[in-house]
Amino acid sequence: MAESKPTPLEPSKLGTKAYWDALYTTELTTHTADPSLEGTVWFDDSDAEAKILSYLSPQDGSHPNHPHPHSLSPATASVLDLGCGNGSLLFSLRDDGWSGHLLGVDYSPHSIALARQVALSRESESLKTVEFKVWDVLNGDIPSISPPEAAQGWDLVLDKGTFDAVSLSDEKDSQGRRINEGYGERVLQLLRTGGVFFVTSCNWTEAELREWFETSTAPNDQNTKLRMVGRIDYPSFSFGGVKGQTISTLCFEKVVVDA
Ligand SMILES: C[S@@+](CC[C@H](N)C(=O)[O-])C[C@H]1O[C@@H](n2cnc3c(N)ncnc32)[C@H](O)[C@@H]1O
Repeated sequence: MAESKPTPLEPSKLGTKAYWDALYTTELTTHTADPSLEGTVWFDDSDAEAKILSYLSPQDGSHPNHPHPHSLSPATASVLDLGCGNGSLLFSLRDDGWSGHLLGVDYSPHSIALARQVALSRESESLKTVEFKVWDVLNGDIPSISPPEAAQGWDLVLDKGTFDAVSLSDEKDSQGRRINEGYGERVLQLLRTGGVFFVTSCNWTEAELREWFETSTAPNDQNTKLRMVGRIDYPSFSFGGVKGQTISTLCFEKVVVDA
């Protein structure tokens, strides 16, 4: 398969664990003082969470050009949120009737402490059943976060801003690559075949996300790969004759390819 990789991003402090630890330490203190202040929800100004929820909800005709791309059942689907921050996306899913196993992971223990504290402080009893765990998407042991009774992997894996953050790290992996280059391989390992992955980004265009996850994430040894199956529409802008979107959300399915 032809290799095609977008130009790497300039590293920044948002690519460091120290940055996230400091942010969530502050947000935890703030939430302790005033439980109505639950911390940052990334891409809130683009209404990303509501749009993802609407896209995932059983087909209601509101996405005529992007039909419901999956057969997930909100009652049973297992959902893993990578880099969950304060847990907001999973709480929204739970509130919206997603009653299966929901797990949020983040490499910052302060994020996980915040998410657990927010769950306890909300009125809804069902939010207390959303689980959170400190876990590094790139280096964590995969069996340690397997969904119950489903050794084949997660039905739905979410990423809102985490691939962006990882792409701003200057760290290299054991193959000498920038660590974001191995992110798609990890997603592939986490999903069950037929499972879906939503990635929301402000740093990469749709074409670049497609390159990262569809083109340059090689099929694994079970001959599965990620294939784009849908996208979410956001308001677009025009600048200098070029049309663009402020953020992008793409949906990929884990599919079997010919050997
Ligand atoms: C831009 S924030 C997004 C938080 C949350 N998903 C949201 O939408 O509000 C990026 C998150 O990724 C987490 N993160 C970055 N690198 C990670 C890694 N290697 N493993 C797990 N979490 C990571 C950070 O701690 C932070 O919570």
